[in-house]
Amino acid sequence: MLSFLYFALMSRSLHMKYTIKSLLLFLLLISAAQSHCQVRRIPLTKIEMEQSEQQYQKFCALCHGGEREGNAADFAPSLKSRSYMATTPLNFLASTIGFGRPNTAMAAYLIDMGGPMTMKEIFNMALWLQYQAGHEPISLGTEPVAGDLKKGALLYESKCAECHGKMAEGITAPALANPAFLAFATDAYIKYAIENGREDTEMIAYKNELSAEEINDLTSYIRSLTSGWSPEPKALASYPEAADYVLNKDGENPEFELKENRYVPMEQVAQALNSKKKMVILDTRTTSEWHNAHIPGAIPVPYYVSEKEVAKDLPRDETWIIAYCSCPHAASDKIINMLRKQGFKKTAVIDEGFFNWINAGYPVIGGETEKK
Ligand code: HEC
Ligand code: HEC
Repeated sequence: MLSFLYFALMSRSLHMKYTIKSLLLFLLLISAAQSHCQVRRIPLTKIEMEQSEQQYQKFCALCHGGEREGNAADFAPSLKSRSYMATTPLNFLASTIGFGRPNTAMAAYLIDMGGPMTMKEIFNMALWLQYQAGHEPISLGTEPVAGDLKKGALLYESKCAECHGKMAEGITAPALANPAFLAFATDAYIKYAIENGREDTEMIAYKNELSAEEINDLTSYIRSLTSGWSPEPKALASYPEAADYVLNKDGENPEFELKENRYVPMEQVAQALNSKKKMVILDTRTTSEWHNAHIPGAIPVPYYVSEKEVAKDLPRDETWIIAYCSCPHAASDKIINMLRKQGFKKTAVIDEGFFNWINAGYPVIGGETEKK
């Protein structure tokens, strides 16, 4: 049923863009997997396993940790807990990787969304994650859960908001109001997570603390936050030319005061940009995020570029190079470390990160509107 929903969603908005071959493959994988039913392991070839492992280390370990344990940065969830991996159907897992969770640090990795991975690579990654976790799938029904919304809202406020956020927008824990989450999370899935928690994480099993009725109330409340979502392919902009990397070429070099010899307050960067100071700005997030929105003139240098590529076409003079991500530091630190190792001295990370930059009302531009 969920598989069908996923396919319906996907085919509506994306099918124009895919070759018949990848669509067929997609269908095949979906029907073969039949997600949460019996069959769990689709054998990947040895080469595919190795490729997924490499891609995991390259794209995901930064936040989810080298062992998929979670919390390496950004409070990214565990990708190995039994409770999560056994109850999450393959299509839900693949959709999260492909389309991300909008407005969180979890970016979209699918090429059509401006990310670095093909559909097949994403499915292989989802299969590899399930295989690595090795838990038998738990089949949850699709029955809706009935509960008292008002009671659920009060309970949520007192028990859950400190981690998941007052508006369920996510703080140290996932955003439960996220439309891309709620589009796939069934009532039974949410209820199971509340009852059983997520092993080895901050999310405890509430079945020991709350009554079955209270858990139903909470589930209904979370369900009521649904706002509708379907993945839309992006109109992708072309990346800036090397000749345009340096902003305000004829401007003066700005003076930045760094914390810990590395972090520059966003206010200083905004002022420097405003007064036409010379600098390079690197967007170190997954490229799909650059396509969504970025600081005007920022060039995409995602955290997963190689040592060889990272400094390509960057000026080796007195020009300041400023990096940012939404993490707020994990991805940009990684890139700045690589550059410093290669001798770039005037480098810094925007301390507060991109979400705070947006919230402060500083300039932001959508990828597709910045035609170069
Ligand atoms: C101490 C912090 C904390 C509190 C309090 C807390 N949670 Fe969580 N919750 C987490 C974390 C962290 C995760 C992600 C765990 C992981 O998978 O790594 C999570 C995961 C979840 C998930 C699964 C989300 C997903 O993406 O699959 C649900 C549902 C959830 N919590 C509901 C609740 C509800 C309802 C409450 C209140 C009764 C609550 N949580 C209280 C920290 C918390
Ligand atoms: C920059 C940090 C970052 C990177 C890199 C990253 N993620 Fe995430 N991921 C997150 C965060 C944060 C969340 C929770 C988002 C939310 O719902 O609030 C998340 C959520 C997820 C979830 C849902 C988990 C759950 O419990 O609901 C999956 C699956 C996932 N990521 C897989 C991946 C994979 C696979 C990769 C690599 C291709 C990856 N992520 C790369 C930060 C990251």
